[in-house]
Amino acid sequence: MENFSNIVKKSILNISPYIPGKPIEEVKREYGIKDIIKLASNENPLGPSKLALEGIKKKLKDLNLYPESSVYYLRSALSEHLKVKEDMLMFGNGSNELEQLIAEIFVEPGDEVMFSSLSFVVYSIVTDIVGGIPIQIPHKNFRHDIERFIEKLSGKTKLVFLCNPNNPTGTIITKEEFEKFMQNVSEKTIVVLDEAYFEYVYDKNYPDGITYLSKYKNLIVLRTFSKIYGLAGLRIGYGIADSEIVNFIDRVRPPFNVNSLAQVAALYALKDNTHIKKTIKINNTGKKFLEKEFEKLKIEYVKSHTNFIFVKFKYGSKYVFEELLKKGIIIRPFFDNYARITIGKMDENKRLIKELKKILEK
Ligand SMILES: Cc1ncc(COP(=O)(O)O)c(C=O)c1O
Repeated sequence: MENFSNIVKKSILNISPYIPGKPIEEVKREYGIKDIIKLASNENPLGPSKLALEGIKKKLKDLNLYPESSVYYLRSALSEHLKVKEDMLMFGNGSNELEQLIAEIFVEPGDEVMFSSLSFVVYSIVTDIVGGIPIQIPHKNFRHDIERFIEKLSGKTKLVFLCNPNNPTGTIITKEEFEKFMQNVSEKTIVVLDEAYFEYVYDKNYPDGITYLSKYKNLIVLRTFSKIYGLAGLRIGYGIADSEIVNFIDRVRPPFNVNSLAQVAALYALKDNTHIKKTIKINNTGKKFLEKEFEKLKIEYVKSHTNFIFVKFKYGSKYVFEELLKKGIIIRPFFDNYARITIGKMDENKRLIKELKKILEK
């Protein structure tokens, strides 16, 4: 019997599978608790928009048909919404899929792919899938160290992932930093600006990637319907880039990669301003509340521009994670002492703090 590790592509051997936030149903099964709150995957605690659900209902009767591969209606609506040409839009089964497709169309084995050492883990996975060489730039106080990024650019750098705001730390790359980076990067290097949490940011120094597309043809901006729009379960994200790049993506993407319910839900969610405003409001209130409570509990945290907060526990984040699980609260531990906590609804935030207090007092 052949050992498949002898046959599989070498670049695949070292990949560790992506570990998602622990699902609610799994905790229900394992702990026998019914009332679970998930503060682990930066989902929208208000759920999907009601409008999106209405759109889905209308589409259910057509599920015997393949989706429209061109994503016609959503493309048209997004083009108007973002003030970009329709042929500059690409759609994926989550922006995650687009990250992989981008790596597939640009990175040859041995090319360098650069990203921050403390950023979205998928960058590292897609780099390995295509046999790229990861160049991880150490973070500086939980932020992208743009100076080091520039220093490490070389003729071999094919692709750079900039996560803005950054997951898991919630920090931003400023306009000044981003502009400096773009001025220093070669036109032959593709820059992916991952703006999955764009809609949450209120900071005048935060750059809107789309406004740089006319100047930099090598820039790809990625956004998603998984976060503020509350459609993570349907899997739909999009990218905005030069139409030539979109055309290359079209050549490699699986046919019908965005399902019909996702397309219609995104179309409706895009128009649901009430849902978006409500989400931002509870997020801002929740953030202020959690920051204050973390300070009282002497839990260090990184100031966040998103719907999650990166915290440091003195006594092991795995321990805190497991103790919280027993109480039906799911967070996301990182390394030995850190964790990422999604901001929930106020009752959820209060329940988290109440349980955290008990755990830390122990
Ligand atoms: C920074 C960042 N980029 C991309 C994604 C992927 O999102 P999607 O659900 O659109 O695949 C996530 C999801 O957590 C993320 O945090």
